[in-house]
Amino acid sequence: MRSVLVTGGSGKLGKFVVRHLMESGWNVTSIDRVPHPDSRVWSTIVDLLDSGSVMDLMTGANERHSKLDAVVHLAAIPAPGLQSDKATINNNLNSTLNVFMAARNAGIKKVVFASSETVLGLPFDTPPPYVPVDEEYEPRPESFYSLSKVLEERLAKELCRWDHELSMVGLRFSNVIDPIEYPSFEDFQDDAIKRKWNLWGYIDARDGALAVEKALDYETPGFEPFIIASPDSVMRMTNTQLLQEVFPEVALRRQVSEHETLLGIEKAKRLLGFNPSNSWRDL
Ligand SMILES: NC(=O)c1ccc[n+]([C@@H]2O[C@H](COP(=O)([O-])OP(=O)(O)OC[C@H]3O[C@@H](n4cnc5c(N)ncnc54)[C@H](O)[C@@H]3O)[C@@H](O)[C@H]2O)c1
Repeated sequence: MRSVLVTGGSGKLGKFVVRHLMESGWNVTSIDRVPHPDSRVWSTIVDLLDSGSVMDLMTGANERHSKLDAVVHLAAIPAPGLQSDKATINNNLNSTLNVFMAARNAGIKKVVFASSETVLGLPFDTPPPYVPVDEEYEPRPESFYSLSKVLEERLAKELCRWDHELSMVGLRFSNVIDPIEYPSFEDFQDDAIKRKWNLWGYIDARDGALAVEKALDYETPGFEPFIIASPDSVMRMTNTQLLQEVFPEVALRRQVSEHETLLGIEKAKRLLGFNPSNSWRDL
């Protein structure tokens, strides 16, 4: 049985990831600074800003955490504006540095971490260079939250340059949605502007968890970022209507179907075998 440490396992996405990986046969330990709500999950309380404790956990000072095959790092303040910019970048960047350095010291060769769609230029007050957006253009962080994700991706890239056996995957998640939230999608159906900030995208938390599982199985060394979104938009309006109204000048790189996501997931499909199957439309 392969063992994985999941940081942020008590969070919105983390709960889905922990459950999915357990069901997929992984031996999972969740670490977070708040308890996990499910008592069947093995969880350890730690503040990732405490570098000594993170190092202790990952380098096998106690039996439960020894011989880890992989780390999934999700813990973060998950959006701009929830805390001060200083608190956000301090928490996110230093937590990530502690996790990545401890993983390196422990000789762990597989790290999957949560980056964010925000690195693509959200909230798109400056329009995207083209749609569907993809991983091909330089990150465009517009907040300290997003900047922390760009710096984490850069850190991963350099660590992989130093260690040719290391495989690090940055999952640029779209807006994570728990299926119980789908009824609230009615609130923005009448207005193309309300969700323009992320090109009308989302990721069903169950498919977010699937992306983590697929990324864990991706063995190619080096750093690779992937956009992770559900295959459709959050809108009943068609892409033609939305783009004409909000981004009439933005080039459409290829034909897209009426409700296809404009957050391109082709790379994740091709390299990870990511095949999301859930949609708010199925409710
Ligand atoms: N929610 C979204 O829409 C969204 C979109 C894109 C990317 N992401 C990223 O996905 C990841 C998970 O997001 P989420 O929505 O589950 O967030 P969440 O806030 O629900 O969960 C994050 C968890 O991390 C823990 N945490 C934060 N700082 C910590 C620290 N210093 N030490 C220990 N634990 C700490 C929190 O206690 C929390 O349980 C984050 O990295 C976030 O930036 C989220």
